[in-house]
Amino acid sequence: MPQQTLHVLLTGATGFVGGTILSTLCKAHPEAHVKALVRREEDAKHLRSIHHNLEPVLGSLSDLELLRRTAASVDFVIHATKEDLAAVRALIDGLASTFSNGPPTPRLISISGIRSLIDRSLPVTGIASEDGRPWSDIQDISTILSLPKERIHAEADQSTMAHASASGVGAMIVGAPQLWGRGKGHVKTEGAAATAYYAAVRKRGRAFVIGDGSVAWSWSSIGDLGAAVVFLLERALLDDGASHRVGVNEDGYYFVRSDEVKMIDRAKAVSKRLGLGEVESVAVEVTAELHPFGPLMWGCGVTTRPDRLTALGWIPKELDWEMLMEESIRFVVMHNEYAHQSLSKLRGSKTFSCGFSKSQ
Ligand SMILES: NC(=O)c1ccc[n+]([C@@H]2O[C@H](COP(=O)([O-])OP(=O)(O)OC[C@H]3O[C@@H](n4cnc5c(N)ncnc54)[C@H](OP(=O)(O)O)[C@@H]3O)[C@@H](O)[C@H]2O)c1
Repeated sequence: MPQQTLHVLLTGATGFVGGTILSTLCKAHPEAHVKALVRREEDAKHLRSIHHNLEPVLGSLSDLELLRRTAASVDFVIHATKEDLAAVRALIDGLASTFSNGPPTPRLISISGIRSLIDRSLPVTGIASEDGRPWSDIQDISTILSLPKERIHAEADQSTMAHASASGVGAMIVGAPQLWGRGKGHVKTEGAAATAYYAAVRKRGRAFVIGDGSVAWSWSSIGDLGAAVVFLLERALLDDGASHRVGVNEDGYYFVRSDEVKMIDRAKAVSKRLGLGEVESVAVEVTAELHPFGPLMWGCGVTTRPDRLTALGWIPKELDWEMLMEESIRFVVMHNEYAHQSLSKLRGSKTFSCGFSKSQ
C-alpha cells in the first residue's frame, strides 16, 4: 500500500452498488481521500456529513471535462453508475494524462453485470440447459470480452477495455451477479432486481417461476460485492505493473460470486415467507407484463466462477441467501409502492428497450 494518501474518484456514490462501495472503502481506508461524483447538492451534503474524508464533486456523467479533470487528480477511479461510454472514455483519458511509461498499472474498476452472458436469441424457458456449466473469468475471458455488442453490458465492457488498452491504463471490469441484501450506502439501499421479484409476487399473490424454474443465477451479497471491489483496489495498489499480479484489460474481467440459487428454490422460499401456498408456473408473457426484465431475470439464468478473485485470495463471507432475502422482503413489505415507482421509471427509460420483446 502506498505511504502517501490514496486519492480515489467514485461515481454512483448515491446508488445501491456505489453507496456500498463508498461505505466499505471509507471503513477500510479512513485515511483515503474520496472524490464522489454526485448530482444533487443535498446528497453531497448528506454524504459529506457521514464520510469526513469525502469530497463531493457536483456534476453528472455528461460533464466530460469535469470527469477528465477529476480523474487526472486521483490515483484510482471506481465507476459504479449506469453504462455511459463517453463518460468512461473521459475517466480513462484523465487517468492516462498522469500515466508513466511502462506496462499499464491497474487504475480503474468499472462495475458491470453478468446479464451480458445471456444469449437472447434462445427461447426463454426457465429450464436449465443440460450442458450448462459455469462461466470462468479465466478460461472464458476471450469469449466474455467479445460477446455480440447488442448484448446488455457487452458494448460498454468492450469499449472500456479497448480504450484503456489504447491509453496505457489498466482497467478491471467487475461482472456483478444477482445482488442480494440491503445496500450499505446512505442514499439508495435497495437493489432494483431483487426487490422486483418480491414486489411482483406480492402483486400476484402467488410466488411463480417460468417453466420448472430449474434455471439458476449466481448471486453475491451486496456487502461481499463492495468488499470484493475494495479487495481488488488494495491488490491493485500493490501491483507495479511489471509482475502483473492483478490482471487488467484483456486479463481484467472479474466475476464476483458467492453461490447460485435455482429460481424454483427462491420461489418456494418467498412463498413460505409470505404464506402464499403452491408456487405456480407462468407464461413468459405474464412475467413481461409484471416487469420489463421479467423474462430475462426469472426465465434465464447465468452461473459463474470467480476464478480470478479466488486466485488472488478473495473469499465471500455472506453465504446465507435466505437471510439476505429476508432483508429485502421486509423492505418491500414495508414500502410496497417502491417497486411500482421504480418500474414506471424503468418503462420510460432507454434500458427498457434492452429487455424482453414479445417477438423473442
Ligand atoms: N443492482 C443490481 O442488482 C446490479 C447487478 C449487477 C450489476 N449492476 C450494475 O451496477 C451498476 C450500478 O447499479 P445500481 O444498482 O447501484 O444502480 P442505482 O442504485 O440506480 O445507482 C445508480 C447510480 O448512478 C448514478 N447516476 C445515474 N445516472 C447518472 C448520471 N447521468 N450522472 C451521474 N450519476 C449518475 C445515480 O445517481 P443519482 O442518485 O443522482 O440518480 C446513482 O448514484 C450498474 O452498472 C448496474 O448494471 C447492478
